[in-house]
Amino acid sequence: MAGPSHGPANFWTQANALLRKNLTFQKRNMKTNIFLICYPALLCILIAVLQHYYNKMVHNETAKECDPKTNSSCPIPQIPAFPPLLQLPHYSYSAVRTDFLPFNDLPDESCRRNRSCPATILLTGDNQSLGEILAGTMITNSLNTSQVTASFEKHDFASLASNVLGSPRSPPQDLISDGYGYYGISNVQRQCTDNESLSEIEMQCVKGLVLWRNDYTVVNDELYKGYYEGNPDGKINEISAAFDFLNSNEENFDVSIWYNSTLNDGDLLLNIPRSVNLASNAYLRSQRGPGTQMLFEFVKGMHPETNQVAHVDFASYLGPLFFTWVVLQLFPVALKSLVYEKQRKLRIMMKMHGLGDWPYWMISYLYFLFVSSIYMLIFVASGALLGLQFFQLNDFGIQFVFYFIYINLQISFAFLGATLFSNVKTATVVAYICVFGTGFLARFLFQSFVESNSFPKMWVMVMEIYPGFSLYRGIYEFAQYIILEGGMRWEDLNDSENGMKEVLIIMSLEWLVVLFAAYGMDVVVSLGSGVGRRQSQNSRMNPLSFFWKPNLQHKDSRLHVQMDNADVIQEREKVDQLLHESSTSHAIVCDNLQKIYPGRDGNPEKLAVQGLYLAMPRAECFGVLGPNGAGKTSFISMMIGLIKPTSGTAFVQGLDIRTHMDQIYTSMGVCPQDDLLWETLTGREHLLFYGRLKNLRGSALTQAVEESLKSLNLFHGGVSDKQAGKYSGGMKRRLSVAISLIGDPKVVYMDEPSTGLDPASRNNLWSVVKKAKQDRAIILTTHSMEEAEFLCDRLGFFVDGSLRCIGNPKELKARYGGSYVFTITTSSDHEEEVENMVQHLSPSANKVYQLSGTQKFEIPKSEVRIADVFQAVETAKSKFTVFAWGLADTNMEDVFIKVSREAHQSNSLT
Ligand SMILES: *[C@@H]1O[C@H](CO)[C@@H](O)[C@H](O)[C@H]1NC(C)=O
Ligand SMILES: *[C@@H]1O[C@H](CO)[C@@H](O)[C@H](O)[C@H]1NC(C)=O
Ligand SMILES: *[C@@H]1O[C@H](CO)[C@@H](O)[C@H](O)[C@H]1NC(C)=O
Repeated sequence: MAGPSHGPANFWTQANALLRKNLTFQKRNMKTNIFLICYPALLCILIAVLQHYYNKMVHNETAKECDPKTNSSCPIPQIPAFPPLLQLPHYSYSAVRTDFLPFNDLPDESCRRNRSCPATILLTGDNQSLGEILAGTMITNSLNTSQVTASFEKHDFASLASNVLGSPRSPPQDLISDGYGYYGISNVQRQCTDNESLSEIEMQCVKGLVLWRNDYTVVNDELYKGYYEGNPDGKINEISAAFDFLNSNEENFDVSIWYNSTLNDGDLLLNIPRSVNLASNAYLRSQRGPGTQMLFEFVKGMHPETNQVAHVDFASYLGPLFFTWVVLQLFPVALKSLVYEKQRKLRIMMKMHGLGDWPYWMISYLYFLFVSSIYMLIFVASGALLGLQFFQLNDFGIQFVFYFIYINLQISFAFLGATLFSNVKTATVVAYICVFGTGFLARFLFQSFVESNSFPKMWVMVMEIYPGFSLYRGIYEFAQYIILEGGMRWEDLNDSENGMKEVLIIMSLEWLVVLFAAYGMDVVVSLGSGVGRRQSQNSRMNPLSFFWKPNLQHKDSRLHVQMDNADVIQEREKVDQLLHESSTSHAIVCDNLQKIYPGRDGNPEKLAVQGLYLAMPRAECFGVLGPNGAGKTSFISMMIGLIKPTSGTAFVQGLDIRTHMDQIYTSMGVCPQDDLLWETLTGREHLLFYGRLKNLRGSALTQAVEESLKSLNLFHGGVSDKQAGKYSGGMKRRLSVAISLIGDPKVVYMDEPSTGLDPASRNNLWSVVKKAKQDRAIILTTHSMEEAEFLCDRLGFFVDGSLRCIGNPKELKARYGGSYVFTITTSSDHEEEVENMVQHLSPSANKVYQLSGTQKFEIPKSEVRIADVFQAVETAKSKFTVFAWGLADTNMEDVFIKVSREAHQSNSLT
């Protein structure tokens, strides 16, 4: 054992102990940890492989002779210039005369059958005579067959501009460019005569029919009814285009144009350009004579992607979702580990053995920060090494700052979350739902808000308060800068569209807020569970005198209710005296300690412990006995700081349990009823950890651990190096006792230490406890009277929340068991004789049991001597057969039963 010189462990010693324990703990989880660390690297490799094959494939495609007919992604070196086309109806839908459109100038329906329907164009305006002129000049005859053929051969289509070409659908540009051309393109003429020569180049002639209508409402009506939707019979009557020349005259050209807007916007060739040109040309001719021409040589779209293959950066496209998941993965890991220690009450156990809150927080925080940093480092480094632009081209400084702030925020959140959960499974499930839910929500909801121009930026910022969204936003911005700008630089943070700056600010502020909130919640939650903590600063005054007065009143009001035994009253007087003297000679002084559980769900409030006085000198083992529910556990829980007393207090080594629990913990050992152990740590590692917490170090530590293991029989057969999860119940029990005794604590609480032990182990344990009590105070609860009698210097019986009697085992036995139990078995004929004999021995003997010849009597010790009994039996044997007999002293069990019974009787009296 280490000498008594070592004081309580300081901050760094505690931190060191916890760190070593955590590292050992993590060593056991090596596989999981390696997998965790490898996860981001694996993802990066996957993306890199995808990218590699994609690049290779695209490269091959471009290198090959590219056939634009089969592959639309082939580069087209030069898009040919082609004149715009007039959209023509399909021949079977061309406008004809029908019952719902009874215009006489429309052709007869029969034209649809021989495909000779004209392309109808409607005109209207304020001045009909002008309109008639325009109708006459709009469409001319001008097709020069050889010129057309030549222009297709030379890929020079500008010469076609003097014709009005039309088509029902947009011809593919590459077909035109390759001279597959005029397929599907028709020539619109005033009259179709030379069909023969045109068939040679497969260019159809379509008659252009320009018709005057009196009013724009008539035009509207006609156009609308020709649509499929506008016609009740589903008959379609399509018009190519319509013009309203409004108030146009010599000075003024004013036109509105109807065109088919269901056409795809991208179809430049087939959109409004040709209609505009038709109107302008007609007007020009009407003013300047029929020879005037305004040629519209070509429309040409700008399609940058048709000249080069789009480069897809997988990391940037998949990144926002996948990388968000990668980073979020750390959240469940931290949360799980924190809740594990809470659920298994290990946090409390460590606290009870002197681990302060600050070291716990600091080491846990730094530990998670370390793991997260490694994880992120591997993530970014592997991505960059594998050549992913996402990691290479964004400024490393921004990446570092962003991820660093985020993981800090995430760890703070895990601490905050841990205060809300008490079960590892629930916490894990909730955390993973959060991870995946966040990813999807961010990708499919949040991103659309970010990209939307109408969604208020303010609300996006509000959403970014949720850490998952701010993480997503940051990664999204990295990806955007890769796709659009080739990486984010520090100066890009100034861009108005860049959300990175706001995300960094939000996350940094939130980190501080959440960290403080988590600490606050931790304090509140542990106060709720009653772990002692300073309530007020003035309690630092001498606690003994400060709380003295109010207690007097309590006591007086209670005196007449409790029918206390003399020894209990005596104990109270002793406590009073000790408190007056402010003496610290006693290890534990309980002063009117009381615990009342408030009534719930209509049940009355429960007096778990009432008015408890106890003065325990050092080097005493005090046994707490009593039936189940008598208040033993409440008493111990108050003493070890798990719950707060309702009133009254106790002083441990002169320190008040209400205010100085943290200091008390440094010299306290606890063996709780359930074994609070880490499944994966070995017995030796447990003891090393708790030894360090108790400020043992170096050889003193090793020695203390070895001795402890040996004395509790945990040393041999490799038990000490087996994981505690694989221990039997008895081994766990012994380890718990060893933990409670390591580091020479001044006060030790043991809650039923020998439960579940075989007799040999139990005796072993007893000798350890017996040796340990020589220089410390031990409070022990037990149901084994044998154990109580063997180990304890004094016993206290709890019944219904109060101490009914206190005394050493011998006194108690003398007081409560002042009789022998005499048992004798004869044949049933001689029962009466036996009874007479006992009466003769002691007139006040009391028969307690009788069954077919076997009788049991209680004989007051004061009235008989043992020798007399022997003699009487010898005499009896000579008269009749005595099958068996026995004389027994009362044992503790009898005392136990008697005290309980008496207490209940007195209770029912009051
Ligand atoms: C209608 O147009 C014709 C031809 O341009 C012109 O001579 C005539 O004056 C116009 N009538 C009106 C009322 O503007
Ligand atoms: C408008 O254009 C679309 C697409 O080419 C076509 O399907 C539709 O029939 C046209 N409608 C009319 C009334 O021309
Ligand atoms: C950031 O933008 C503001 C105004 O838009 C400009 O005044 C400032 O100089 C910019 N700072 C940097 C570092 O580019």
